[in-house]
Amino acid sequence: MSHKKSNNNSENGMPRHVAIIMDGNGRWAKRRFLPRIAGHRAGVETVRQAVRVCAEKGIEALTLFAFSSENWRRPAKEVSLLMELFLAALQRETRRLKDNNVRLKIIGDRSAFTPRLQEEIAAAEAGCRDCTGLLLIVAANYGGRWDITQAARCIGEQIEAGKLRAVDITSDLIEEYTSLHGIPEPDLFIRTGGEERISNFLLWHLAYTEFYFTEILWPDFDTAAFEAALASFARRQRRFGRTGEQVEQSKGA
Ligand code: IPE
Ligand code: IPE
Ligand code: MG
Repeated sequence: MSHKKSNNNSENGMPRHVAIIMDGNGRWAKRRFLPRIAGHRAGVETVRQAVRVCAEKGIEALTLFAFSSENWRRPAKEVSLLMELFLAALQRETRRLKDNNVRLKIIGDRSAFTPRLQEEIAAAEAGCRDCTGLLLIVAANYGGRWDITQAARCIGEQIEAGKLRAVDITSDLIEEYTSLHGIPEPDLFIRTGGEERISNFLLWHLAYTEFYFTEILWPDFDTAAFEAALASFARRQRRFGRTGEQVEQSKGA
């Protein structure tokens, strides 16, 4: 069975790909008697820090859940402020990303965004297309079920067109049509804000990911907190179905 396992602690104990649900912005603001959007704004600063940590540690990819396909259910005012914040961040940060050799990729159903936002997303991605450092993936209007569904639909179209047959459908083929195709699967998943659930994040790609939950609210998730998560990851033994003894033996080999 092929798992795109990228790190089994045999090397430097550092994940190649970290995926984060940045949760707790609203509660962070509430505790300060501020509007929820103040928490989202503070969260953008934490994103900058997290990007810096990943770049410094040589982590290859960082995927951040910024807006879920279910977040449209929030009050219209919060949704529109979040869209404004996203737009502003894209406009402001693209230059900085490029200067830091960070490549940006947005995953999710962007057809629901305004034409203006869609253009800005395309421009931001194009602006740092040639960067070779950290790959920053932002999941916006993303849902794990949407991802698997759109992959299935694409494969169905190929079959209808006579380009594929049902027997060609393998786990690797499905992966090819998902949003994270070609990127090592996340080694470490972090959720801040105390909730212990996936909330329809990367369902396909988290099959063998190590999970880390913390009570810390996203705006407070500083470098030390991120390093604690990385330290927890480094202590784990990833077995991918094998026994602990087998893993130890293959390390020595
Ligand atoms: C996460 O913070 C950010 C988004 C979902 C956009 P929340 O806004 O969910 O914060 P809490 O969970 O209400 O504290
Ligand atoms: C998940 O957080 C989505 C993002 C962080 C963007 P939510 O706060 O929306 O998740 P639920 O609804 O509490 O599960
Ligand atoms: Mg939340």
